[in-house]
Amino acid sequence: MDEIDKGSRTLGLPIAFHGTVIHSRRLNELEILENCFLLVDKAGKIQTLQAGVDPNEINSIISDLGYTPDVFPIKYLQRGQFLCPGFVDTHNHAPQWTQRGIGRGKTLMEWLNNVTFAHEAKFADAEYAKRTYSSCVSGFLRHGITTASYYGSLHGEATQILADICLEKGQRALVGKCNMNRNSPEWYRDASVEDSLHQTQELIQHIQTIDPDNKLVRPIITPRFAISCEPDLLSGLGSLAKEHPDTPIQTHFNEAKGEMMLTKELFPQFRNEVELYKSYELLTDRTILAHCIYLEEEEIEALRELRCGVAHCPISNTTMDFFMAAPIREYLRRGIKVGLGTDSGGGHSASMLDSMRQAFVVSIARQDATDGQDPALSMAEGFYLATLGGAQVCGLDEKIGNFAVGKEFDALEVHCDDNLGIMTPVEDDDSISTIFEKWIMTGDDRNIAKVYVCGRSVKV
Ligand code: GUN
Ligand code: FE
Repeated sequence: MDEIDKGSRTLGLPIAFHGTVIHSRRLNELEILENCFLLVDKAGKIQTLQAGVDPNEINSIISDLGYTPDVFPIKYLQRGQFLCPGFVDTHNHAPQWTQRGIGRGKTLMEWLNNVTFAHEAKFADAEYAKRTYSSCVSGFLRHGITTASYYGSLHGEATQILADICLEKGQRALVGKCNMNRNSPEWYRDASVEDSLHQTQELIQHIQTIDPDNKLVRPIITPRFAISCEPDLLSGLGSLAKEHPDTPIQTHFNEAKGEMMLTKELFPQFRNEVELYKSYELLTDRTILAHCIYLEEEEIEALRELRCGVAHCPISNTTMDFFMAAPIREYLRRGIKVGLGTDSGGGHSASMLDSMRQAFVVSIARQDATDGQDPALSMAEGFYLATLGGAQVCGLDEKIGNFAVGKEFDALEVHCDDNLGIMTPVEDDDSISTIFEKWIMTGDDRNIAKVYVCGRSVKV
């Protein structure tokens, strides 16, 4: 623990930094602030963000803010080091932490039936859940994921354990019990509609008990996808969402051709998936729709009108049996909220840096397929999707996503100056934006020296 941790955690003091700060103001506006003084109050909120500050001026700034100088430590970041917002992973399956990388090249339905369901079934064992979720949450924190929207397994108890672990380790999280009562083996499906709804309600109550103000953890209603849910279950979840108007909803949406065909067979009364989920009142401004690959024009328009968010998961979209390139540029053009997801373990990587890189690759494929109509994502846009865009999708952009004064300090302290022989080395004449680009494209978690959530240092 360094001085900053001692100050923030044991003494209830502010923490402060001086150096380079990088964050997104808007989709295309990456702000790089040099010689910046950033102060986080003892509640974990950003109290001041001021660029171009000479270190000699710091004591007077501190006095003006009403603090006594020299009472709390200030961390001076060196060249090659910077602060940036923590990553927001908008789509993540916690029980798949231990199956990442398995089953490449299968269709979605083959992968679910032959790899995933058997694996998730292990979470009936609470001890296994504790062990695995503990490793999962620590692992994602190490990768700088300060907020994750998690699908649990179908088990109520294991999913409560996941919420407990997020809170204990200090990760901001949306945690959902996966609702699924059909089209999976008998040994891995909810016993009944009532049981599935009851366990979901219990999870909502449990999170209300452990984190009454949803400071870090909140429940999320999680129908796996329509194929897994009988109509009564979808209706019940729609009613639950109405009873809990602040509770977000997540599902898989227009992910793969096989999935879409099977959905049409099961629900012939609906023209498309928007019509389906809308009819069960599951499309709201708090809904996170993973993938969104093959939407019809009226579906895209509906997402905009209903203010649903898109969790773009470019790694899993290009790891199964097709290269599936979601029309992200079109969503952004229409002002639809978009964030990035690891989709761990359909996606093989736990790293949002990898997600960003694959988002660049997929966006070039779209640029090609549209003869340049949908230009590829820029560096600034990719970073926005991984931070502020994700915060919008999760309904948390008032609280996190960048370093606007008043927001909570969810941040990464990135060190590109230690030459570990992995990241492209920093050279004397590199600009800060070059150093940043080198990290985004070639760095990894070894460059993430510290991770903060609401001012608390959480990387172990
Ligand atoms: N569709 C239904 N379940 C899943 C899942 O676990 N992962 C992905 N990528 N798609 C799904
Ligand atoms: Fe998924």
